[in-house]
Amino acid sequence: MRAFVTGSTGLLGNNLVRLLIREGYEVKALARNRIKAEAMLGGTGAEIVVGDMGDVDAFAPALKGCDVLFHTAAYFREAFERKSEHWPMLQRINIDNTLRLFELAQRHEVGTVIHTSSNATIRKRTDGKASEESDVLLPSKAPTPYARSKILGDKAIAEYVSQTQLPVMTVLPAWMFGPGDAAPTSSGRFVLDYLNRRLQGVFDTGFDVVDARDVAAAMLAAVSKGKPGERYILAAHHTSLAELCQVLGRVTGVEEPKRSVSRPMIYTVAWFSQTMAALFGKETNLTVDSVRVLTMMHRTSSAKAALELGVQFRPLEATLRDTADWLRLDPKGS
Ligand SMILES: NC(=O)c1ccc[n+]([C@@H]2O[C@H](COP(=O)([O-])OP(=O)(O)OC[C@H]3O[C@@H](n4cnc5c(N)ncnc54)[C@H](OP(=O)(O)O)[C@@H]3O)[C@@H](O)[C@H]2O)c1
Repeated sequence: MRAFVTGSTGLLGNNLVRLLIREGYEVKALARNRIKAEAMLGGTGAEIVVGDMGDVDAFAPALKGCDVLFHTAAYFREAFERKSEHWPMLQRINIDNTLRLFELAQRHEVGTVIHTSSNATIRKRTDGKASEESDVLLPSKAPTPYARSKILGDKAIAEYVSQTQLPVMTVLPAWMFGPGDAAPTSSGRFVLDYLNRRLQGVFDTGFDVVDARDVAAAMLAAVSKGKPGERYILAAHHTSLAELCQVLGRVTGVEEPKRSVSRPMIYTVAWFSQTMAALFGKETNLTVDSVRVLTMMHRTSSAKAALELGVQFRPLEATLRDTADWLRLDPKGS
């Protein structure tokens, strides 16, 4: 089997490329930067295709001859960076050009598409049960512009699929952790902050997490077991900042922060943190948006992925240990 993987230098993408190659796939790996891709994937046997989702037509001929397209690239990290206006890029990369990629994949006779959305597109239920794939948020209720772009992207894909019958299966991961987080994403930055004792305290939170390697395995399983047009939430553990810190303390030997901060206080600190970051041109994980998402107490269910794809999740402890070990060895992803 031949696969085309977008976002191959990302947390999810590089773990997926490695898995596919281990499973005997020939892989074409899309990357914006050849040097970064060679540093990350050199030696895996993947063929690097240089291209940008900003111009899909330019790299689309490389889709020819591939059996499966795994689409993991997104305007994601940048969407949480200090910048006034992200919407034009969210619309272009996560909606319009994702659709264009799928159109060109179909034109080049790629038989199957596995797409990456997010469980941030799922609404919290009022009955207290874990939310399912059908609990889709209204775009106007999205917690962030990034989540809104993923909701609208999924809607555009569903319309395209209904018109063309292109077999697209979509995974909806929770907050992903894992080794190979070179950028790093927010989870890698959180673990680095933990390791460097930059976390001052914890606050009352509740959210889902998943290992990027388990998401990659689910995407592979979707090729043979997924049903066209179906969506699969991948949320391994419902957890909290306090639990993440306890587990990180156990697996890294770095003492966990003891201070507990009230919710009004953490919003004040987050506002201050994002204002100072904007003022001094720095990035921060601690923003009003991130506090809102972490304190939503949102729980999503992977029951469908377990039943239909046979997905299994590794223990949280293994995920955090491997994430921390990788970041300790390679904090810049070089
Ligand atoms: N991480 C999470 O917690 C999480 C949770 C739910 C869903 N997701 C979704 O999962 C997918 C993978 O995310 P990730 O965590 O692996 O993020 P990541 O580490 O930031 O990886 C994103 C990948 O997309 C590439 N990319 C970004 N813009 C591109 C463009 N214009 N053209 C070509 N490639 C581009 C990046 O390339 P560079 O290396 O050049 O930047 C990188 O390879 C995304 O669709 C994201 O929305 C992530």
